[in-house]
Amino acid sequence: MKATVLAHPNIALVKYWGKRDDALILPHQSSLSLTLAPLSVTTTVEFGAASDQVEINGHTAKGSERDRVLRVLEAVRGEAGGKLGPAKMVSRGDFPASAGLASSAAGFAALAVAAREAAGLKADPKVASMLARLGSGSACRSVQGGFCEWRRGERADGTDSYAVQRFDAKHWPELRMVVAILNRDEKEVKSRDGMKHTVDTSPYYAAWVKDAEAEVPRAVEILQRKDLQALGELAERNAWRMHSTAFAADPPLCYMNPATLGLIQHLREQRKKGMPVWFTLDAGPNPVLLTDAAHEVAAEALARACGAVDVIRCVPGGDAELKGEHL
Ligand code: PMV
Repeated sequence: MKATVLAHPNIALVKYWGKRDDALILPHQSSLSLTLAPLSVTTTVEFGAASDQVEINGHTAKGSERDRVLRVLEAVRGEAGGKLGPAKMVSRGDFPASAGLASSAAGFAALAVAAREAAGLKADPKVASMLARLGSGSACRSVQGGFCEWRRGERADGTDSYAVQRFDAKHWPELRMVVAILNRDEKEVKSRDGMKHTVDTSPYYAAWVKDAEAEVPRAVEILQRKDLQALGELAERNAWRMHSTAFAADPPLCYMNPATLGLIQHLREQRKKGMPVWFTLDAGPNPVLLTDAAHEVAAEALARACGAVDVIRCVPGGDAELKGEHL
């Protein structure tokens, strides 16, 4: 009745930006990401508590955060035939929320896998991915490691909208992601709200959907042949296009700040000098640099020279995994 799971966050190379169904969290387009180690979130779930309890990083969760966790637990109770009572969930991340990386992706992936295990259900990455998706869309890509593709699916009930692993973490061990934290402030507009505003008001949105969908198979083909330059170029143009849809929203939405653009400009200059380094950018000001093991130290130095207050060097991470010790 009790299980603990560790999961890693992920960074999208082809972003998810916009829902076609807000309740079921179904995206307009497919996306593709890399799971990031060593960053992780560990979550323990135990059924049989007196009432539902949700504790995240030492605090009792409230409001929508609590509601999203309860929604996942409720779905697991349903899958287990309704015989399970209230649950206690305790979750702890080993990286700052200020990193600009969605700790919620790792947290909901760990929750989905742990809750199913605690309920005695047979491990199933596809079902766990759909469950994680109910908490946070991008979480469906953190159930498995390596490179995962979230297929948008066609059905209205969401039963074909989940992530599949295209390559595992060992496929390209030299790949590096260097998170450049330029600003620790919490972002003003959450991804959830920013993407909804973009879908509702940006005249560029339809073009984004068409383009992003077509980029996913290209990204898979590039990953197959491990071509860093092609992957870097694809990740950059996809990030620019996601942000362009947001710039064109009404009122406009801009997640970048001057330091973000300064760093991007500097990357261009370094590339001209032969350094293999590109960026991607989620809904915040902190770029993630894409490079290889031979250049990760130089990439960190470059980020610091451009004002990064902290830098986290990441490698391809593995699947969500069961742990023997509980929180
Ligand atoms: O899953 P959410 O609601 O945290 O949205 C994630 C959106 C982006 O991080 C900007 C892109 C992505 O695919 O992860």
